[in-house]
Amino acid sequence: MDKLFFDTTGPFIPADRVDGRDKVTGAAKYAAEHKLPGTVYGVIVTSTIAKGTITALNTRTAETAPGVLAVISHLNSPPVPGFQPIDKKANPKAQEWQGLKVFYDNKVYSNGQPIVIVVADTFERAVYAASLVKAQYAKETAQTDFEKNLSKARGPQGGDKPQVYKRGEADVYKKAPVFIEEEYRMPIETHNPMEMHAIIAHWEAPDQITVYDKTQGPKDTQGDLMQAFQLPETKVKVIAEYVGGGFGSALRTWPHEIAAVLAAKKVNKPVKVMLSRDQMFTMVGYRPCAHQKIGIGATTDGKFTGITHEAIAQTSSYENFTEGIVNATKFLYDCPNVNTSYQLVPLDVSTPIWMRGPGEATGCFAFESAIDELACKLNIDPVELRLRNYAEQDPERNLPFSSKYLRECYQLGMEKIGWTNRKQQPGTLKEDGWLVGYGMGSGVFSAMRWVATVRAVLKDDGTLLLQSAVSDMGPGTATAMVQIASKAMDLPPEKIKFELGSSSLPPGPTQGGSATTSTLGSAVYDACMELKEKLKTLLLKTGHDATTHPEANNIAFENGQIFLKGQTTNRRSYEELLKKNQLDKLDITKDSRGGTEQRKYSMYSFSVHFTKVWVHPLTGVVKVKEVVTTGDAGKIISEKTARSQMIGGVVGGIGMALTEEAIIDHRFGRYVNNNFADYHVPVNADVPRIEALFVNKPDPVLNPMGAKGMGEIALIGFAASVANAVYNATGKRIRQLPITPDKLL
Ligand code: MOS
Repeated sequence: MDKLFFDTTGPFIPADRVDGRDKVTGAAKYAAEHKLPGTVYGVIVTSTIAKGTITALNTRTAETAPGVLAVISHLNSPPVPGFQPIDKKANPKAQEWQGLKVFYDNKVYSNGQPIVIVVADTFERAVYAASLVKAQYAKETAQTDFEKNLSKARGPQGGDKPQVYKRGEADVYKKAPVFIEEEYRMPIETHNPMEMHAIIAHWEAPDQITVYDKTQGPKDTQGDLMQAFQLPETKVKVIAEYVGGGFGSALRTWPHEIAAVLAAKKVNKPVKVMLSRDQMFTMVGYRPCAHQKIGIGATTDGKFTGITHEAIAQTSSYENFTEGIVNATKFLYDCPNVNTSYQLVPLDVSTPIWMRGPGEATGCFAFESAIDELACKLNIDPVELRLRNYAEQDPERNLPFSSKYLRECYQLGMEKIGWTNRKQQPGTLKEDGWLVGYGMGSGVFSAMRWVATVRAVLKDDGTLLLQSAVSDMGPGTATAMVQIASKAMDLPPEKIKFELGSSSLPPGPTQGGSATTSTLGSAVYDACMELKEKLKTLLLKTGHDATTHPEANNIAFENGQIFLKGQTTNRRSYEELLKKNQLDKLDITKDSRGGTEQRKYSMYSFSVHFTKVWVHPLTGVVKVKEVVTTGDAGKIISEKTARSQMIGGVVGGIGMALTEEAIIDHRFGRYVNNNFADYHVPVNADVPRIEALFVNKPDPVLNPMGAKGMGEIALIGFAASVANAVYNATGKRIRQLPITPDKLL
């Protein structure tokens, strides 16, 4: 593409959230808020054992309760054709259904598994009737205790062998003059977005379904429903105009969604299902707990000689969920000898899913804590130690980074937090009777560009409409896309509308993996470039005016006008040009994808979090007093939403570091703190002033905007910054999250 069109050095025009007003006034409609005539309510009944079979279901009382329309279980569920085992001979490419097959048979794989859906004319009647369903079980001994089952660890694909990586020699750290070797533990965390998962399922015809659903990927959900019900693309529509947070929990199609579709089929009315907060713990995934062992060896002047990172995480008994816990360790620092291993322990629990940062957040808590431990042992400033091992190019793939401004991140953060106030000797700083500590931790995550399609319609009123089948769980996708289009199209933002939230629009990417802006923004850019080419052609065709004959390379665009370079008068607005050509619009649909650059460069976003904590010497209470979080996320498109996203990641990180832990009572395999009274997410009182700073330099390779990703690096490494600050304040090293007061006393 002609880079002349797009100046990545200048700022993007600042903008408020284009959907901000709708969100704060309540005009924005989330999944459960759509009003369909005749809607009835589904409430899900869940298993009360963790493993076994259902031997009897008493549904009679529920069926005869007032207002009840249906009680659906494995005994009477309409069939889900996609759940049937696939004849691999007949169709070798066909995919088996992934995940729990809801109401498929009498098997129970976890406590809290959906076993029945009760449908009634009102929500209250459905809740009441659901309480009347009684199940009997043949119970089997369930294993839900991760620590007790570590010996069952096996390879992530099921075989005995762990997934391993080795560069140089293994376990070299043990021979180093200075080394640390420690174990770190991560508990189960649940996403808990503010909006609970919800769906309204509506069969518009016997072979045609529309769902209003909370999903991070309308096209993914559409594909799953197509597979489950064996319907063509044209017969399945997924609408997700607004999504109230996700953090990864809405990255796949879960049993309650299929249950709602089945129920709607059975009663032949739109059925609305919204999970209760406790169901959010067992039905929509979670961050798996993990056990990690890290060894790092160094010379006495702090050059790493060997790194070993071994991770074991949990999965369910019926699926292998894998993520990148050991990924960052392979390339974050320059070290000749690195070996990692990754294993899973299957337990009688529901399947985990990516949760913000995902595996890298778990991994970097341990790894960035370990680096700090080594820095303390070497008596070297932890930033200085990192600089002495700075990876100028990717040591894992032996490729240059497309861009890396991690050094700049350290610098920005150190200055802003006042790193010089930190004392290397722990427990030496006090304020108001509290111990004071400073800590830092880095984050890194792949900067990706996937495929996307965008439709762009330039109308003869001078406005631009852009469309793509994505959803926005909160970062402000439409806002950033309008800003990209504004710059690419040389059109003021108020003339541009970005439409999303329906699978009927041209296929866009799933919102995840910090890849939306890069992927979708590239497609918006490409679409705008094509429109400009068309405008140029029109100008060449119609002539500029009587006296000038423009040439293609002599045409410029500015503020919704096209003209000959250097001319200040005689500019023609886009709408004039369209009208002159008797066109009511230019309407294009553009596919967009990256090229071969993925093979030539390593592309990552980087972050560094600096945290100041207070720890109370008598109670062990930890207060996060100040956070400076810095990011190399490439070019910043939308200053306001980018800051918000970094701040949001830190808030999630405060929960990860200090309060969040989903606890299972292993006698029953059941969560005991599956509510907001007992599972503590950070509230305003836990959150201090957070400064988010960006290097804001464009990546020259990844995409035309120069933007990398931001969603994950906002969280990755933050928990380590807190753990390291707590050590700096107290001299106590906490290797098991969350860092609760009992661990400090
Ligand atoms: Mo994110 S964990 O890819 O929603």
